[in-house]
Amino acid sequence: MSTTISPEEQHEKVRTVVFATAQAAAEALAREVRVIIEEKNAAGQAAVLGLATGSTPVPFYRELIRMHREEGLSFQNVVTFNLDEYYGLTREHRESYFRFMKEQLFDHIDIPAENVNLPDGTVPLDGVFDHCAAYEQRIADAGGVDLQILGIGRTGHIGFNEPGSSRDSLTRLVPLDRVTRQDAAADFLGEENVPRFAITMGVGTILRARRLVLMAWGENKAEIVARAVEGPETEAVSASFLQGHGSARFFLDRAASSGLTRVKLPWLVGRAQWTPPETRRAVCWLALRDRKPILKLVDEEYNENGMGELLTRAGGGYELNIEIFNRQQRTITGWPGGKPGTEDDSRPERPSPHPKTCVVFSPEPQDDVMGMGGTIERLVLQGHTVHVVHMTSGDLRVNDGEALRFARVLQETSELDPARWAEADRYAGGVIEEIAAKGPFGDPPRRLRDLKSLIRRGEARDAAASLGVPASRVHFLDLPFYAEGRYRQFRAGAKDAARVGALLDRLQPHQVYMTGDLADPSSVQGVAFTAFRQAWNEREKAVWRSHCRVWLYRGHQKEFQPHEIQMAIPMSPDQLAKKLAAMQRYQSHNLPDLLSGDRNRETARLYDQLGMAEYEAIEAFRSWQA
Ligand code: GLP
Repeated sequence: MSTTISPEEQHEKVRTVVFATAQAAAEALAREVRVIIEEKNAAGQAAVLGLATGSTPVPFYRELIRMHREEGLSFQNVVTFNLDEYYGLTREHRESYFRFMKEQLFDHIDIPAENVNLPDGTVPLDGVFDHCAAYEQRIADAGGVDLQILGIGRTGHIGFNEPGSSRDSLTRLVPLDRVTRQDAAADFLGEENVPRFAITMGVGTILRARRLVLMAWGENKAEIVARAVEGPETEAVSASFLQGHGSARFFLDRAASSGLTRVKLPWLVGRAQWTPPETRRAVCWLALRDRKPILKLVDEEYNENGMGELLTRAGGGYELNIEIFNRQQRTITGWPGGKPGTEDDSRPERPSPHPKTCVVFSPEPQDDVMGMGGTIERLVLQGHTVHVVHMTSGDLRVNDGEALRFARVLQETSELDPARWAEADRYAGGVIEEIAAKGPFGDPPRRLRDLKSLIRRGEARDAAASLGVPASRVHFLDLPFYAEGRYRQFRAGAKDAARVGALLDRLQPHQVYMTGDLADPSSVQGVAFTAFRQAWNEREKAVWRSHCRVWLYRGHQKEFQPHEIQMAIPMSPDQLAKKLAAMQRYQSHNLPDLLSGDRNRETARLYDQLGMAEYEAIEAFRSWQA
């Protein structure tokens, strides 16, 4: 491994490797693990691996399983120590890390049960201290960890070392941060079910490993990764302590690397290419940083910020300002489906055909409205045929209380005419019993999941109707990956792509709106996007595809930055209010942070700051090239 740091990596305080995809990174890491196992075994020793849970290591575990099955890699002589476990969960609990590890790795390889170590979440409080000390001792007795695998939480935690954990901390019981509990809410079907405490290896325990690799995928991790890699070593971001370890590395996919200086601001590290998108990014960055409209930037500011060459190429600051101002300005349009009858080809979307058939894919119900509710309404008002396609049922986000409410209404309805409604009454009674029997943490039985899907369908139709899309144009694909999977463990299969493709062939759209391109590859949005991409790629020769344009929007994820936006749809206060009302229709689950419209207001504020007109709110889109 080379340790030379190139000039473009000068801001990075820990070795950081960017891979094309999470899969490529996972494969590289698995190959490294194989070498460790083989070398240790050749020396007559057991290889000691430190393991992590969460969605991040899943592709890595799948690759280890593949190596075991296809290449005969044996784990007979491997000892593992997991980072952490929720406090209060039994090993059988569906969200316990013990069960996760069994399902994701241990059950599929030949590791002896006695070689597997995880903290025990069920030790009584007065035994926790001794249990943690014994865990440390077991690691030491095994000879220490050869390679520790890590993910990173949005608070910057490794294991469950939340902000405030000291560099020397050891295995202990810790309270979980609010953000961490919110991120786990979907796994536990509601934040109120997420345990408040966990037992975790300490930062000090983790740093004792001989080698460490922290993996991160998806743009939601980009910001915290950048802080951990380029920021100061601080207790506020426990992953930053990896900087002080001589053999720690970050393995990232492109999306997770997008906050690093070399990727985000390459001109500051002498790596600028000055392509048109990069030029726009640099100018917008300078204007926003200095709180100046684009048209007021002056030559000195460009020269002082690594953009002298750009200035020379453009012929001066004035020319550059006008060029970028116009480019940004032209992204704004009130005609997402194209303005009929205009010849102006600088508009984001073509005028013809008119009207268009538009397909809005929503990975989980609510992504559509959240990301582009205002635009959906406009498309409808401008005469386009808009279909909303919910790719998954979203039932895993509906809490039991909602299902209980519906079952009770059904029971009470049956009391009105018991003879005729006997079957419905039995059904409702069965659902109520199932909810009671499984308790807050049990696996939801099929019938309960089906009822929750119906609840979401009703909400989805309601939300669409409030934006002018009739129920006949609201589709439910129920992609199998969702029905068969769990949060943090979803995986696209050929059946998913086939279902998406069949719908595209039937509707033959002129416009597709999609999200999830830069999401964590095992999130619902990430998997849904993979299925879409596959369906799209398989239809290279379809006539409809040659007339179809794909626009990306952002649902759950980080909103586009102004320089990335290729179509900006402004909204009046009334239009924004209508969108927010549509989002409220998703009563069984809504994301409070997103219900305020702040994201759309923020985009409008940034446009205003760059010197464009001042709108109430803006929805943002990028065009996608397969
Ligand atoms: C949990 C785990 C961490 C993990 C983090 C991120 O908090 N204790 O070890 O890194 O989640 O999870 P994910 O990989 O699903 O993003």
